[in-house]
Amino acid sequence: MRVLVTGGAGFVGSHLVDAHVARGDEVVVVDDLSTGRLQNIEAHVSEGRVRFLEGKAEDPAVIEPAFDGVELVYHLAAAVGVFQILAHPLASIRTNLDASSAVFERASARGIRTLFTSTSEVYGKNVSDALNEDDDTIYGSTRVHRWLYAVSKATDEFLALAHHQELGLPVTVVRLFNTTGPRQTGAYGMVVPRFVRQAIEGKPLTVYGDGGQLRCFTNVHDVVAALMALTAAPAAIGAVVNVGNPREISIRDLAALVCEIVGSNSPVELVDYESAYGKGFEDMRRRVPDVSRLRRLIGFVPTTPLEDTIKEIARGIAPGR
Ligand SMILES: NC(=O)c1ccc[n+]([C@@H]2O[C@H](COP(=O)([O-])OP(=O)(O)OC[C@H]3O[C@@H](n4cnc5c(N)ncnc54)[C@H](O)[C@@H]3O)[C@@H](O)[C@H]2O)c1
Repeated sequence: MRVLVTGGAGFVGSHLVDAHVARGDEVVVVDDLSTGRLQNIEAHVSEGRVRFLEGKAEDPAVIEPAFDGVELVYHLAAAVGVFQILAHPLASIRTNLDASSAVFERASARGIRTLFTSTSEVYGKNVSDALNEDDDTIYGSTRVHRWLYAVSKATDEFLALAHHQELGLPVTVVRLFNTTGPRQTGAYGMVVPRFVRQAIEGKPLTVYGDGGQLRCFTNVHDVVAALMALTAAPAAIGAVVNVGNPREISIRDLAALVCEIVGSNSPVELVDYESAYGKGFEDMRRRVPDVSRLRRLIGFVPTTPLEDTIKEIARGIAPGR
């Protein structure tokens, strides 16, 4: 099978590429390397298992040839990470909307099975015990750029579902909850790799806010297995599906757990949201997925213990790198 992965040089995308290559598929990657790294897929490219097209998914000169002979599309290319969005709001909106339009339009015209990675951010300020795919989304003011990522991805969801309804696109919308693992970079605000690096380097672990905010962290290999199973499940066509590990942990406890696993005496340093993200930043106290729909569709849900994921990330980070 020939598979197209937009954003395939990024963190989640490159693990997805690994899994398809291991299955014997031909993979085409479109990535502008804005936050991704060629080294994530370089071995496959040099072995001729992956065709890499460097450029923007919204650029017709790039995306048109990328679709040649493709039978399955994963659309991951997006402006990702809170720092990235706050620093480049305009480019982020354009990327998230234009790239998705370009991909869904071409996949619809050819009737290709497509999976779009949305985010738990679309739930916004909804802090239910377990967020269900049909729950309300609750956003703050448009003057708070933090909501831009959520709203742009939610608009992409509307776009995907409208292509399904009106043009028959066989698409699944997946809401990824915090995904973590090797190759994720802490540079764009991702907390687990940042803590692991700080702990290894003996630096203070910087916790934003009071650290009492609750999050769930999902191992990237579990996510890849779920994405591949969803694309093979006919009942997932036209569906919106949460993908996440429902185990909750506060960010303060996460910092302590990282130090314990890495064997570090690094202190925890609380940094208020305004110093970390600028004036008017808003955050959610809690974000936990209801994964009953995922279980119904594919028969399993992510379960890798966070401790194992932290160890895996630590093995990939050498001090001073
Ligand atoms: N990692 C998470 O916790 C998480 C959570 C929720 C949703 N997601 C979603 O998963 C997807 C992958 O995220 P990730 O964590 O691997 O981040 P990432 O930054 O590593 O991956 C995004 C990739 O897209 C590429 N890219 C960005 N704009 C592009 C464009 N216009 N054209 C082509 N390539 C472009 C980047 O270079 C990068 O390789 C994204 O759609 C993101 O919204 C991730």
